[in-house]
Amino acid sequence: MLPENGRPADELLAEIARLRRDDLQVRGGKVTAYVYDTGRPEVHDAAARAYFEMLEVNTLDPTAFPSIVAMEKQVVGAVAELLGGGPRTPGIFTSGGTESIMLAVKAARDARPMAGRPNIVVPVTAHPAFHKAAHYLGVEVLPVAVDPVTFRADPGAVAAAITPATVLVVVSAPSYPQGVIDPVAEIAALSAARGVLCHVDACVGGWLLPWLADAGAQVPPFDLSVPGVTSLSCDLHKFGYAPKGASVVLFTDPALRRAAYFASAAWPGYTIINATVQSSKSAGPLGGAWATLNALGREGYRELARSTLEATRKLVAGIGGIPGLRVLGEPESSLVAFTGDDEVDVFVLSDEARKLGWFLQPQLSYAGIPANLHITVTGVTLAGVDAMLEVIAASAEAARERGPAKVPDGLAEILATLDLDALDDATFTELAASVGIELGGGGQPEMAVVNAVLDALPAETREAILIRFLSVIYT
Ligand SMILES: Cc1ncc(COP(=O)(O)O)c(C=O)c1O
Repeated sequence: MLPENGRPADELLAEIARLRRDDLQVRGGKVTAYVYDTGRPEVHDAAARAYFEMLEVNTLDPTAFPSIVAMEKQVVGAVAELLGGGPRTPGIFTSGGTESIMLAVKAARDARPMAGRPNIVVPVTAHPAFHKAAHYLGVEVLPVAVDPVTFRADPGAVAAAITPATVLVVVSAPSYPQGVIDPVAEIAALSAARGVLCHVDACVGGWLLPWLADAGAQVPPFDLSVPGVTSLSCDLHKFGYAPKGASVVLFTDPALRRAAYFASAAWPGYTIINATVQSSKSAGPLGGAWATLNALGREGYRELARSTLEATRKLVAGIGGIPGLRVLGEPESSLVAFTGDDEVDVFVLSDEARKLGWFLQPQLSYAGIPANLHITVTGVTLAGVDAMLEVIAASAEAARERGPAKVPDGLAEILATLDLDALDDATFTELAASVGIELGGGGQPEMAVVNAVLDALPAETREAILIRFLSVIYT
């Protein structure tokens, strides 16, 4: 694998181009999740050049590289200014939403040490990063049902879930699955009344909602200025349009930020003072985010929001007019989820759209919410929204003709009772192949049957299978 002699850069780049041949496109708006495209190549170019400039700077030691402190203060300051804070609002630049959330949970845990196991109250529509943080940090998750019609967190249910060991209550603005905003003011107030911290997960909405409001959207208060909100996460690698590896977590209290930090002098090496989970890491993402914010400026974000809002409205109205499809809830940002009736299987629809070069993200059914497809509308969507609607309509028709994906007879029962730990990866791969599911193949795979199988299983079995799936594709 490692060549005996070094290879020239041109050859390596050609090989990367070959490796990426089957990848989804990161630009152009045909991939409606994972990537955020402004449609302005000059902005991405500025970010890439700044990223490259900072690539070899290590954020491990801020005294060695003062540029990172100056840049981070500017980036955190911009986020705080937009989201109800001020120039001295304490914050941390992190590698993504998950890390911002991890630090908010750590801060909440460490701000209130207790004898027993602390818990966090998490509406079921909140991102799994809270489950991950809780898992890593030894905290318990108390899940709370959401309103079955609006998909918003239910303040009464949240209040009822809080216990004396609750260190944090979570709300989302918006939650990812249906793009709706939880009642932040109400839940933050009831948390404060019980002396509990409240985190707003604005990872996806923080750098979007204020600009959408400017463009005329109705946005309820959700930021740090809302009484009772004590921390907030906002990803710049989503609607900030920065290259991946860019998020900010803000706190209302400097003592909370200190509780997120980690220091260790318990070894004979260099002193460890970490603001983030990672220790050594490149300042490239910080440079990329700083450059993107400056390359777009306020007017740039306003303009992107105007086209994002227009595209979202067109999309919601358009999907509502396609036979067999229904938008879930009333999207309040630019995230749209839609489901199909008995004859239009959304997983098949997604595969059909993929054949036409479009990626619509499948979401499994959960907690009474039906299986659906998710579209994140971005600045670039408007130019192609009519084409997107045509693809959705044609794919829905094709899905109706093909009929629902079939879970191979008996498979769900076998998987639900199988001791996965007793199977090696090769046997798992064979088992999947025996029912027509080829794992580890190249190209853009057909996923409808895989999704149908997962959809038929309880959450814990889904998780075990997903872990096995990942293990197989990396073997
Ligand atoms: C609401 C919300 N929170 C957190 C995250 C996690 O962000 P990341 O993938 O950057 O870790 C996401 C990602 O989609 C999200 O939508």
